[in-house]
Amino acid sequence: MQRLRMVVKAVLLPLAMVTAIAAGHAADVRPSVPYVPTPQAVVDRMLAMGRVTAQDYLIDLGSGDGRIVVTAAKKFGTRGFGVDLNPVRITEANDNARRNDVTDKVGFYQRDLFETDLSQATVITMYLLPRVNLALRPKLLELKPGTRLVSHDFDMGDWKADESLRMDAADKFSGAGGDSDVYLWIVPARIAGAWRVQLPVSGKSQTYEISFEQQYQQVSGAARVNSRMAKIEGAKLRGDELTFMFSAEVNGTMVKHEFSGRVSGNEMTGQVALSGSRMAARVEWTAERAARTAAIPPLAGERNVVY
Ligand SMILES: C[S@@+](CC[C@H](N)C(=O)[O-])C[C@H]1O[C@@H](n2cnc3c(N)ncnc32)[C@H](O)[C@@H]1O
Repeated sequence: MQRLRMVVKAVLLPLAMVTAIAAGHAADVRPSVPYVPTPQAVVDRMLAMGRVTAQDYLIDLGSGDGRIVVTAAKKFGTRGFGVDLNPVRITEANDNARRNDVTDKVGFYQRDLFETDLSQATVITMYLLPRVNLALRPKLLELKPGTRLVSHDFDMGDWKADESLRMDAADKFSGAGGDSDVYLWIVPARIAGAWRVQLPVSGKSQTYEISFEQQYQQVSGAARVNSRMAKIEGAKLRGDELTFMFSAEVNGTMVKHEFSGRVSGNEMTGQVALSGSRMAARVEWTAERAARTAAIPPLAGERNVVY
């Protein structure tokens, strides 16, 4: 049974959904014929996983009858829009919005999703195909850090999801039933490269040099403290929120540094907990991209993998 479901998802769905798929450019994209709607229970889970609220602006890429955008508006008061290449779907979606009395919050436009300005979005939803997701990925990674991306059934290749779940979807494929995967990614801030970090330790301002390597939301790196290298441990990047730690010798004793903070373009700010045999303190820290101040020579083995 499980095997049968996998076959349905892997073969029949792509065939039914899109006759020709994007190869990275809008000119290669043709409308999908016919379309496959996301079951309502899956729509609800997608919106829950995306933590959609009234403060969000949601864009559904390939919006079909508009059910994702309309559900978000009706349930949470979310504003947003959907785009679809098929004019019949746009008419259905506008009717759907009218029936549910949410035309003041949402709109639907006949437009190629690759030609759509996504900069307003705080949440993007999609039920497309693996190759379409991959073609879209560079554009999605350019979005504001913290933007949530929720996809029905298809992942983003080596950009691993921050969260995922599998659920039964009894009314999928016009009632034939099946299971659905739901994936969430949070667009990560770009932090790869060298940073100059400043913090007060025992009343004296200290400057550390930190170099981050990054692949999507996976981060590693090293810090240079008083000419000694320290490996960064436990780094986590969720949108623009960054935490990491290292232990380094300061004034003759080992001090554990536990950083938490926010990335904003070429700056970071936050708090660091310092602990050692002679010290326990919590202080503010700031960081600037090194390139904006003075060139910091690359740390040994530095490699700045971005995307
Ligand atoms: C599987 S349906 C999903 C519909 C809806 N998002 C949902 O989850 O119920 C995919 C939709 O994407 C639309 N579509 C496919 N390629 C597109 C493109 N390049 N630009 C805009 N819409 C597209 C199709 O017309 C179809 O309605």
